[in-house]
Amino acid sequence: MSDSYLIKGCKPLTGEVILSGAKNVALKTIIGALMFKGNVTIKNIPKINDVLDLLELIKSLGATANFIEKNTLVINGDNLKNNRVDLVSGSKIRVSFMLFAPLLHRFGECFVPNPGGCRIGARPIDRTVNGLIALGIKVKYDPETGYYHAKIVNKPKGKYCFKKPSHTGTELLMMIGLMTDKEVIIENIANEPEINDLVLYLNSAGANILEDKNKITIRKSFELKQKDAFTIMSDRNELVTYATLAIASGGDVIVGPINGNLISSFLEIMRKAGAGVEEISNFKYRFFYKGIIRPVSIETLPHPGFMTDWQPNWAIMMLKAVGESTIHERVFENRFSYVEELKKLGANIKFINIEVQNPKSFYHFNHEENKTYQQAIKIIGPSDLHSAIINIADLRAGAALACAALLADGESVVNGASILERGYENFVEKISKLGGEIKKV
Ligand code: EPU
Repeated sequence: MSDSYLIKGCKPLTGEVILSGAKNVALKTIIGALMFKGNVTIKNIPKINDVLDLLELIKSLGATANFIEKNTLVINGDNLKNNRVDLVSGSKIRVSFMLFAPLLHRFGECFVPNPGGCRIGARPIDRTVNGLIALGIKVKYDPETGYYHAKIVNKPKGKYCFKKPSHTGTELLMMIGLMTDKEVIIENIANEPEINDLVLYLNSAGANILEDKNKITIRKSFELKQKDAFTIMSDRNELVTYATLAIASGGDVIVGPINGNLISSFLEIMRKAGAGVEEISNFKYRFFYKGIIRPVSIETLPHPGFMTDWQPNWAIMMLKAVGESTIHERVFENRFSYVEELKKLGANIKFINIEVQNPKSFYHFNHEENKTYQQAIKIIGPSDLHSAIINIADLRAGAALACAALLADGESVVNGASILERGYENFVEKISKLGGEIKKV
């Protein structure tokens, strides 16, 4: 099976990109649907590898899931029959651990493997498991089988405060809270707009979830049942990919639909770098090259900060800036898999050490004192990129590497297309429409 891209670079990209639905909402609404009664219709679901893998997984548990139109999915979890998530399928996709919620809801007991997903750090789920326990769920981990065994003895209730916020952790505990017959309060939550979209979806089906800055309160609700189809928000990561590529290639690209409030930290940094950014009608933004790109250093942070998912593409744009910039990754501990690959293309980029006063509180992962971390890079621009054979190790690095090849002189081979396609719908078609030369080989 072809799993590489052949890319001929060095062309300014121009045109319009219609964003697909957000991966990180699609996956959670699919899992949430298994807690509803009857059919659940979700629109704007991207046909990406992570979604397709998850659909296979929920079908193996007894659910039905069918695309009735291009991106409209109908799910029915009424006949769930299996409370054990298969080890191989479960470890393929990280959000499989969120199946704790519908399986506990349906069976009161379930077996869920330790999650897999992108290789961007250890990615433990300790905070989330502590949350399950705090809400009254019995959870045991068996290191021999790699499975968590969870059981509901009493309906979940009470309060849990995340030591440090977790995006999927917040979402899972919120879904667990739907089973309460009293009240569940989650504090120090993550605030990504994707979480907000999930709240809208659940509340539109009868859930009683109240978000208040850093806190979520979930009160008893009756059976969840959908009245109208729900349309998920656009993918912000996809927007950043095409916007940075437009500028780095000297191009001019319109992207939408997007609510500008949800990408304000990105727009601010783009303007700082001298990129042309224009809001045009109907939730559309135009990103256009308007002269020298200025180097802008960033630190990644949870929303409303500059997202960790965006930094690999920011690095690509900074390769074309005139001067030095740095990227300091604070959320995950292994998000620079693209650095060595970029060097193969001729990029002037290196790891640096940035002294931090109190790394335990500065970083969002569980920082260990005696471990060596590589959390920062320096990019010395502008780099003239040439062709090379490069390899994708994780999803967001994949998008950055494909974009770098689109900026490189000559023909490059980018291996690992299926990793990029875990999160990008119609990547080849969208790039080709902008005038980029790319084909799957
Ligand atoms: N963490 C722990 N223990 C926990 C939970 C998190 O140590 O129990 C650590 C993580 O290892 C990480 C940090 O805390 O270092 C933040 O992790 P978080 O839980 O917030 O991230 P996530 O829920 O695993 C989601 C997205 C990521 C996105 C982050 C940040 C999904 C499926 N994944 O991950 O998206 O980068 O939030 O917003 O929603 C991607 O789409 O490529 C992707 C990686």
